Amino acid sequence: MKKAFSVLLILLLTFIAACSNSAGGDGDEKTVGIAMPTKSSERWVKDGENMKKEFEKLGYKVDLQYAEDVVENQLSQIENMITKGADILVIASIDGEALTDVLEQAKNQDIPVIAYDRLIMNSDHVSYYATFDNFQVGVLQGQYIIDKLGLENGEGPFNIELFAGSPDDNNAYFFWDGAMSVIQPYIDSGDLVVQSGQTEFDQGATLRWDGAKAQERMDNLLSAHYSSERVDVVYSPFDGISRGVISSLKAVGYGSDSNPMPIVTGQDAELASIKSIIAGEQTQTIFKDTRELAKKAVEMADSILKDEEPEVNDTSTYDNGKKVVPSYLLEPVSVDIDNYKEVLVDTGYYTEEELQ
Ligand code: GAL
Repeated sequence: MKKAFSVLLILLLTFIAACSNSAGGDGDEKTVGIAMPTKSSERWVKDGENMKKEFEKLGYKVDLQYAEDVVENQLSQIENMITKGADILVIASIDGEALTDVLEQAKNQDIPVIAYDRLIMNSDHVSYYATFDNFQVGVLQGQYIIDKLGLENGEGPFNIELFAGSPDDNNAYFFWDGAMSVIQPYIDSGDLVVQSGQTEFDQGATLRWDGAKAQERMDNLLSAHYSSERVDVVYSPFDGISRGVISSLKAVGYGSDSNPMPIVTGQDAELASIKSIIAGEQTQTIFKDTRELAKKAVEMADSILKDEEPEVNDTSTYDNGKKVVPSYLLEPVSVDIDNYKEVLVDTGYYTEEELQ
């Protein structure tokens, strides 16, 4: 009887232990500090929400902060996370070059750092990097232009203008280099003509990816170089820039049957841009599934906190000036009017209603 009772007691205790473990999850009340750049672009809102959800599922506490694209805000938010005793930091930087000192503080407190989507430069204290294949993003955008125009079949010449992303974001160079790796040969052969002559990254750069700045630059390009010429293509690396460019084009009459919109590329599959694609304004975007990226970053953080090796698939591409940061790269997907339903609606990223 006594023996049976002790067996029962052991079983009961084991059961209670198992329950409390699954309720508490693996997180064990550890805190994750997540520093995101801004809420003004929809993607970062989704990234933040997705990560928070995934971390909380594992039982972690989350301190999620947005800095409205102000570098100083982001610095003080990260300092705060360190002071409050965060166990790990996940950071999508505003200015990839500005975090060296604050990461030194994290290093002194042994707080690991994951660079999220954007590489953090000039610090040896970036533990891992979760992102997409950023060069491939540019290749997909550039190849889309080539295919759409039929350049490989000898069509042309066509007029193109080129926009680049923010010069303080390492990704911007990868997108540009990827796109130029396929576009440049056609510029060299004269099949693509840049009427403005602005073919350098610095000339096309858009600080903080600001759509209003892109719109202003497009206004200037159109008035200076396109009074008698038509612009056939605008290479844009990001949806926010694309929509600024489109506003500018519409203001001078593009978008009618007799004066159709040029091809305009983009990135992030933001809701407003998918609606614009459906409306026949923006032509293309790149879908980077923020649900998958969030999952990856969470998996990485969870492994690090359990003293396990996170899974990586690239250990050579992302040199931040101090070290080559071990990375996990996800695959980007090109989206246009022909496949948006399959890629975005069928996978539940957007509902049909949202796109109305
Ligand atoms: C990049 C990011 C892009 C886009 C852009 C502007 O770093 O990789 O997907 O979001 O910033 O926010």
